Amino acid sequence: MIISENKKLISEAASKLKLGDLVAFPTETVYGLGADAINKKAVARIYEVKGRPTDHPLIVHISSIKNLDKWAKEIPEYGLTLASAFWPGPMTLILPRTNLAKNFITGGQDNVGIRIPAHTLALELLNEFENKGGLGVVAPSANRFGAVSPTTASAVEIELGDYLDDMDLILDGGPSLVGIESTIIDCTKSLPTVLRSGAITYEMITEILGSTIDIKRFNPESMEVKAPGMLESHYSPKAKVLLSGVPLPGDGLIAIESFQTPEGVIRLASPKNNEDYARLLYEALRLADSKELKRVYTIPPTGGGIAVAINDRLTKSAFEK
Ligand code: TXA
Ligand code: MG
Repeated sequence: MIISENKKLISEAASKLKLGDLVAFPTETVYGLGADAINKKAVARIYEVKGRPTDHPLIVHISSIKNLDKWAKEIPEYGLTLASAFWPGPMTLILPRTNLAKNFITGGQDNVGIRIPAHTLALELLNEFENKGGLGVVAPSANRFGAVSPTTASAVEIELGDYLDDMDLILDGGPSLVGIESTIIDCTKSLPTVLRSGAITYEMITEILGSTIDIKRFNPESMEVKAPGMLESHYSPKAKVLLSGVPLPGDGLIAIESFQTPEGVIRLASPKNNEDYARLLYEALRLADSKELKRVYTIPPTGGGIAVAINDRLTKSAFEK
């Protein structure tokens, strides 16, 4: 396993994917653990390395909208509008699948998640892979199941180093700029449903689709498609995450810059705004674990936009297992 910032290694990484090895790579949201989406054995290793149940589907990453109809069919008009507005970008669309998307990547569902990431290194890797005859790269967040997603190459190594083998690779593209996972939108029905909130916000989606389209928000009571990122407990550090109360000396704290650190409390992040909060959140939770803190207090952001996604992740990381 190698960590490298050398872009020349991208071609080698693409060859590794073609051979069935795993390549962790940066995206603008979080780091992904990539495998050739049509290689059953390689995909099986992703589940093994993550310790993830096999009925949890994977997102196929492609380099261009031109490749979309290889994987998805019967794409509704609103799906195409979203794709052209927000790709490349932090958005995943769930679409009816073609025969290329096998059960071993969709968890047996007859739809498939697709994303075009907005990260130079990721796009170069996907392009190289496609030039070598590849069709798509499945990539879940490069963390153990239920843990915090990595936003740096070294976080990937800490998460998965013990589980990857010598042939696998971790590409280093610097810290992820968005910092939380993509917005997932179910486009298999007449109206879109947001299954996972993210940096493509409800407001942005409404603005693009127009107010005549009613975007349904995800309601766990009526869950028909499995999106296990919706599990109540997820994104969890070892430390206990608290969303209210008063931090005591020795506790960690994540709060907007203007919030003062009480005496003896360990400041883990001081985001300037909500975008900054999303970008810094997961590294701050990791820092809490590396400092072996027992508790992390967070002051959740307020309002709409990306604050919705941050609050979703905070709530899940705070959920008592
Ligand atoms: O930002 C992201 O989306 C990152 C980067 C690496 O692209 N990937 C990511 O993948 O977060 P993962 O596997 O950690 O989370 C994807 C979520 C899971 O909760 C999965 O169940 C859901 O998307 N998902 C994937 N395909 C689906 C499908 N066909 N139907 C419903 N949910 C799906
Ligand atoms: Mg994940």
